[in-house]
Amino acid sequence: MSTARGEFSSRFGFLMAATGSAVGLGNIWGFPTNAASNGGAAFLFTYIILAFVLAYPALMAELIIGRHAKANAVNALRGLSTSPAIARVGAGVGFAGMITVTLILSFYAIISGWMLAYMFASMADIARLESASNWLTQSGTTRDAVFAGIFYLLTIYIVVAGVRNGIEKWSSRLMPSLYLILIILIVYVLTLDGAMEGLRMYLVPDFSRVADPQLILSAMGQAFFSLSLGVGTMLIYGSYVSKQENLPAIGGMVTVMDMSVAVLAGLLILPAMSVAQLNGIQIYDDQGALIAGPALITSVLPALFDQMGDGGILVALAFFALMSIAALTSSISMLEVPVSYFVEDQGVSRRKAVILLGVLAASVSMLIIWNFGLLFDWVVRLTTEFSQPLLGFFFAIFAGWVWNRNALLAEIKQGHADVESGLFWRIWPWYIKFVCPLIILAVYIQLII
Ligand code: TRP
Repeated sequence: MSTARGEFSSRFGFLMAATGSAVGLGNIWGFPTNAASNGGAAFLFTYIILAFVLAYPALMAELIIGRHAKANAVNALRGLSTSPAIARVGAGVGFAGMITVTLILSFYAIISGWMLAYMFASMADIARLESASNWLTQSGTTRDAVFAGIFYLLTIYIVVAGVRNGIEKWSSRLMPSLYLILIILIVYVLTLDGAMEGLRMYLVPDFSRVADPQLILSAMGQAFFSLSLGVGTMLIYGSYVSKQENLPAIGGMVTVMDMSVAVLAGLLILPAMSVAQLNGIQIYDDQGALIAGPALITSVLPALFDQMGDGGILVALAFFALMSIAALTSSISMLEVPVSYFVEDQGVSRRKAVILLGVLAASVSMLIIWNFGLLFDWVVRLTTEFSQPLLGFFFAIFAGWVWNRNALLAEIKQGHADVESGLFWRIWPWYIKFVCPLIILAVYIQLII
């Protein structure tokens, strides 16, 4: 049963893998559109605060538990308590995380498939293959199924190769390119006429919205989703971190990098939308709300790229490559969660576990594709607004209440010998015990009222 566990080869490798997981469609698409439909800078402001006061401490809980246990979420949470009943709850939370993340993967792969399809469409445009390009950009169940399928194949290919030769290697290759493409696109879009109006929309706060429960819930959901929390992803990545690393520091770096990509993406998407508007492209829907969901990426932006002439094809290619890269380094971290459990706990070979679980998730995707109107939004909301924060609540309870405080300290001390005298140890333990669970509960209660 005890196969040799993977480990990231260096701090850089871990940072690329963990930010690769965190930075995804949630940052480049979810965040800007959430901000646009929730009072611009009011959302940005709430999000940044929540990222530090809630998401960072929750991220630390997962990283620390993971590195301590050197195991998947089910075994790690089970092992934190000596009471059989509590251990069973821990295993249950681990399982619920596994199911949640598999469902997240199943809708994520559909959107990612669109990104691939649009990327190929811009290649077809370059080759002047008009009918191919039209097929690729026309929504349809066949296209969706084919490209979600291709996206699964890429994900499976990387995860099969393991922690170091798959996840770390590909994240380290892809993440630097992601940053580069993002910066180039921002600089370009900001030079276009009309971009400043979008900047204003993004950066001037509508403070009447700050106390809106829906805004706070969206910002919390966004923060949890963006840092890949609550489902054991960061726990499993933490379990692959060497005992020499200073966990509070590298967790902080991941949070800051993740947030900065979200904030940067806002500088790209919102100005791009106002440029589109200036060019006569509709950016508000019939109710007067900014077009935010899938239509933003699959109709507003492509319409804008089309108007840019031949140069627009390259911009489109860069943009959809950016999206595909961001998606892929995230999806591999999702698939790794159930895979690590089946490999470590059930003694299944990695290859077999990856293929079986990949096919399972792909089947759920197909079900959603063929019942899109019925299932898509429902699965997204169930997993990201309900399951993730709820499971995050349990992770905080396990780190704060169930786990023995001395064992916790001993774990953080590895790689950070003088942690006891630092700020982190003075604040975080009571914080994860009281404040994090209370914030999550408060947001839920507010929502029910
Ligand atoms: N954080 C990624 C994004 O912003 C998505 C992601 C990766 C994720 N792993 C996860 C979301 C686990 C929830 C749970 O797009």
